[in-house]
Amino acid sequence: MPPVKRASTDLHPVLTLGDSLEHYASWPRPTVIVSDGAYGVSGFPGDPPTHEGLAAWYAPHVAAWSERALPSATLWFWGTEIGWATVHPLLEQHGWDYRSCHVWDKGIAHVAGNANTRTLRKFPVVSEVCVQYVRKVLLESGGARLPLKAWLRREWERSGLPLRHTNEACGVKNAATRKYFTQCHLWYYPPASAFEGLVAFANAHGRPEGRPYFSIDGKRPLTGHEWASLRAKFHCDVGVTNVWQEPAVRGPERFKEETRSVHGNQKPLKLLDRIIRASSDPGDVVWEPFGGLCSVAVAAFGAGRRCYSAEIAPGYHAVASSRLAKCAPRPPAEISAA
Ligand SMILES: C[S@@+](CC[C@H](N)C(=O)[O-])C[C@H]1O[C@@H](n2cnc3c(N)ncnc32)[C@H](O)[C@@H]1O
Repeated sequence: MPPVKRASTDLHPVLTLGDSLEHYASWPRPTVIVSDGAYGVSGFPGDPPTHEGLAAWYAPHVAAWSERALPSATLWFWGTEIGWATVHPLLEQHGWDYRSCHVWDKGIAHVAGNANTRTLRKFPVVSEVCVQYVRKVLLESGGARLPLKAWLRREWERSGLPLRHTNEACGVKNAATRKYFTQCHLWYYPPASAFEGLVAFANAHGRPEGRPYFSIDGKRPLTGHEWASLRAKFHCDVGVTNVWQEPAVRGPERFKEETRSVHGNQKPLKLLDRIIRASSDPGDVVWEPFGGLCSVAVAAFGAGRRCYSAEIAPGYHAVASSRLAKCAPRPPAEISAA
């Protein structure tokens, strides 16, 4: 049989008019979630007036993301610094592990001449943050639920084999004991091939009564591919740091109605392209729960990822729909009204 070709329409962004909370259950599980929701600045109808309302605002969304995200998922959480600080405990409670905080520096032009520091009583703010989280994955071993580093070690210990044999199992001189089984912060995630070596060795030579080793269902060991898919993806270009100097969107990229911006929060495609490519591969699913003008969907489509977006305000949804229709080679597969 000839190989089945993916239809080009598979990649078309899916945009829905309505509350994202009502759509998460029907979207495919995501590798990437880009959250650009409430800021606590009354930025759009429903955005609380201060950061104090943000934890309650985000709570149902974070619960749904945690339930549906793949173990390899990355969440990029955009906000003000105090907004993010307020929501951070909620994200942790729901199993999101903090990785890094990125500062979007829009530059002095963002406030040029408009910030009266005598009235403001603080330095002008020209930044937002984009904070990277990954899933905290816990696996069971000997009745305990453990993070991957501890689980790997516990499973080997359960086999009764001396630790030095991990080197032989992985076909290395001492890298396994030094890197994959260290208990310090310099732990390395074993690649699939090394994991497969550990699995084969432990299940062939470990205590028969404890087999299978490196299993999550107690019936068969994990494959190298399954092991690799428990970790968030990350591909980084050389020279990119956690400070992103990029002006606010302007010129032809900015959507305007006469002289006014259509949406006050339109994000630069350059930054969205960066985070999507860093944390996913072509064909992976990206979620954009708070669409606005659906800049995430545009960037995801450009990078060959599948994107699912929702926008609750009909006016923004209409602009986003026509934007997506233009960026796609054919009209989006499904631009539906809820
Ligand atoms: C900060 S803006 C996003 C801007 C977007 N990143 C862009 O580049 O255009 C947040 C958007 O989320 C929408 N929104 C708020 N709550 C929502 C919900 N529960 N479901 C879907 N959209 C929502 C708002 O109407 C607003 O347009």
